[in-house]
Amino acid sequence: MASCGPGDKLLLPRTVHRSVISGLILSGARPIFLLPEVCGRTGLVGSVTPAAIAQAFQAHPDLKAVLIVSPTYEGICAETGAIAALCHAQGIPLLVDEAHGPHFGFHPDLPASALSQGATVSVQSTHKVLSGLTQSAMLHLRPWDPRSGECLIDPGRVAQALQLVQSSSPSYLLLAALDAARSQMATQGHALMTQTLALANQARDRLRQIPGLRVFELPQPQPGFAQLDPTRLTVDVSALGLTGFEADEILNENYGVIAELPSLWHLTFIISLGNNAVDIEQLVTGFAAMAERACDKTFHATCQETFENQFDPKFGLWREIAIGAELGLSPREAYFSAAETIALPDGIGQISAETVCPYPPGIPVLLPGERIGSGAIAYLRKIQAAGGIISGASDPSLETLRVIR
Ligand SMILES: Cc1ncc(COP(=O)(O)O)c(C=O)c1O
Repeated sequence: MASCGPGDKLLLPRTVHRSVISGLILSGARPIFLLPEVCGRTGLVGSVTPAAIAQAFQAHPDLKAVLIVSPTYEGICAETGAIAALCHAQGIPLLVDEAHGPHFGFHPDLPASALSQGATVSVQSTHKVLSGLTQSAMLHLRPWDPRSGECLIDPGRVAQALQLVQSSSPSYLLLAALDAARSQMATQGHALMTQTLALANQARDRLRQIPGLRVFELPQPQPGFAQLDPTRLTVDVSALGLTGFEADEILNENYGVIAELPSLWHLTFIISLGNNAVDIEQLVTGFAAMAERACDKTFHATCQETFENQFDPKFGLWREIAIGAELGLSPREAYFSAAETIALPDGIGQISAETVCPYPPGIPVLLPGERIGSGAIAYLRKIQAAGGIISGASDPSLETLRVIR
């Protein structure tokens, strides 16, 4: 809202969190979506590349701002420095959703923070990874391009926008929690991150040795996969004949291990400053026991059928979802248009009036203003059948949808 007004073009990946779509509805900005890079081996989604952004600048010389997600939920980082340089050359701000990166900048073995790489604005969910209370977050601002001295974003406008979206009764619990988290990281951040990295590296090494598990690694930077936050562990359980949702349930119920993000093939864990050696032991023991049990034929047979119904991880899910999903209206126009409820088969090809996403990770598969593609519906149904949680649908059974009349 501080960088784009109604009709202004914002360049961003299609795989943003639903909070970004809320921002588009509030501001009226027109999204120009790019598809991020997808890892062909694991199906994991990375970032948009500098090359794709440079190409979009040619096609849309009137862009007002660029938004990227770095790191992703799985800890995959963008080439933020190169993207920031492109934006600065264009004289437009780079906004970074750094919800999962508030610990960056506190240890040299962690990726560099977005602001230190030239981002204009970054938002960090202090509550997710550091010790802030739930809902506490920070918006970091670099209003000036240090080279040109140009003001890329007006701090006064940011303050005004905050007044529109925040309560006029600030929570001193949340403010104190932010201050305590800041103080903790300023005084002990390096030591805490040294310990966290050691635990994460130990967990990664031990999980790697369990037959049937594949732990996501990034030995070399790839386009859209510049760096991996080592404190995120993404484990592919598909070779065990399990979906991520099934593995999550087994680990949770039998071994007291809670994944941050279960998906069709993977489980992602956050190792944070709140973890200790006992947690890592429990994680590894749980995985080892589950993998051993999965090798038992009977157990394997019960899970195999569900698994075979899943997508092939190499197909590039978002490409499939995006097929036919052109924007009919801006998210704001769609949000304020008259809508109706319609049975699903008739809804394909109509313009969605709702934001529907598997949660976590909260990346909308349907969003207001976008045409509903059959790939999107098939994907939501798979998630639902596999035991995932779908949020935002007016009809949780997905028999009907709200579409623009
Ligand atoms: C990439 C990303 N951005 C933004 C958010 C929203 O953050 P918060 O829950 O702090 O509002 C999330 C939440 O999961 C997220 O994963």
